[in-house]
Amino acid sequence: MEPIAVARAAEENPYLLGVYAPVADEITSSDLEVIGEIPRDLNGVYLRNGPNRQYPADGRYHWFDGDGMVHAVHFENGKARYRNRFIRTAAFHEESKQGRALWTGVMENPAGNPFGNTHGLGLKDSANTDVIFHRGKVLATWYLCGSPYALDPLSLETIGAEDFLGTLAGDMMAHPKVDEATGELFWFDYGPEAPYMRYGVISPEGTVSHVADVSLPGPRLPHDMALTENYAVLMDLPLLQDQDARRAGKYRIQFDRSLASRFGVIPRYGSDVRWFEAKPCYIYHVVNSWEQGDEIIMDVCRVKNPSHAPRVKTPLAAMLAYLRLDAHLYRYRFNLRTGAVAEGPLDDVNLEFPSVDSRIVSRPHRYSYNMRLSSDFTLLFDALVRYDSSTGAKEIHEFGPGRWGSEAPFAPRDGSTGETDGYLVSFVTDERENRSEVAVFDAADVAAGPVGRVLLPQRVPVGFHATWVRMDQLRSWPS
Ligand SMILES: [Fe+2]
Repeated sequence: MEPIAVARAAEENPYLLGVYAPVADEITSSDLEVIGEIPRDLNGVYLRNGPNRQYPADGRYHWFDGDGMVHAVHFENGKARYRNRFIRTAAFHEESKQGRALWTGVMENPAGNPFGNTHGLGLKDSANTDVIFHRGKVLATWYLCGSPYALDPLSLETIGAEDFLGTLAGDMMAHPKVDEATGELFWFDYGPEAPYMRYGVISPEGTVSHVADVSLPGPRLPHDMALTENYAVLMDLPLLQDQDARRAGKYRIQFDRSLASRFGVIPRYGSDVRWFEAKPCYIYHVVNSWEQGDEIIMDVCRVKNPSHAPRVKTPLAAMLAYLRLDAHLYRYRFNLRTGAVAEGPLDDVNLEFPSVDSRIVSRPHRYSYNMRLSSDFTLLFDALVRYDSSTGAKEIHEFGPGRWGSEAPFAPRDGSTGETDGYLVSFVTDERENRSEVAVFDAADVAAGPVGRVLLPQRVPVGFHATWVRMDQLRSWPS
């Protein structure tokens, strides 16, 4: 591992500079320069969430602290429109009223913060992590579990905290899973009090239709879950919040290598969890999962060693070390008849932010679309990788020196018939030119590079998760 660069002062935090620097303006623009061509059969919206702080807060800044901002490009009949908006959360409104920061970040004591999420962490729920589409709305979610905030998919206006007609008590994690075949949404919530996790389902009608307590040995920090046609898979991974630090008002996490990774298989509408044990690791993101014979197969991006000890012990070095991510495609097989677990790597490239064709989540996939992590000391994606899980073959597009991509979901073309019959869409930010574009790739020929590039009116800061919403999904939920 290369040495970790340490910034000399708080204001040199690299996550506030260059390609990460927040943008102040909310822009709507349809007059955009196109290089190449925007395919006419690409119709829908690419949305990407990420941290973008509005006001500087006292103390140290962590990349995850920024206020949520969604950047979106709406493609229609060969034309593109760009728009970016802050997610107007309850905390964002409070700070806007006062014209200054009221919350500290995760690296500071939250004791004086006005309010937090229902975990009692006292941290600002910024909804800055993922965006998903369910029942005509985009839901913006937060990595530590928060209120999902509903946004209009075209105007990006914040509709408000989504409580599913008053039926959602508690919070929702960052990566709820939509089954497009049934219209259901699957989620979990976790916190510092026993039983530490709750699993639930939102019905196609938009209300909570099932909740089950999931008992864990202690508080955990799960990030994602998997879904198959009949089951959900929940995770109890040995990355723990340090409870002594928590009592002292500090947020600190540690990896306990002596504990197993545990995967809990629960029927979609069940309450009995069957646990499968595997080698210790951490998993941010699931690629996809499905049933095959007696087995559940689950592909993930697995982090073998989530605790990178910084060489210099400063808070900033600790954050930079924590954000160093070494993840590889990895497959688990859980045998529901025998209880056996098989696990092993699929590939050795450092890949994260995976996605598959959203129409087949929870059913077998062949292709996944992944971002390659650069070896820089901050988190950056230097290539887009299509991985063929049936052959292990990879198709790679490198963005080029000083150019960084963002999560690139599959965007089916109009009338699409399969997993590569469409496009991949990604923001690409050029650190030398200090500007961004949205790039469109043919999913069947990723290595050929973008078929079209749309130059954007402002830089899109490097951020977190993205989604694609098809035109037919927008049309089925008229606003
Ligand atoms: Fe995530």
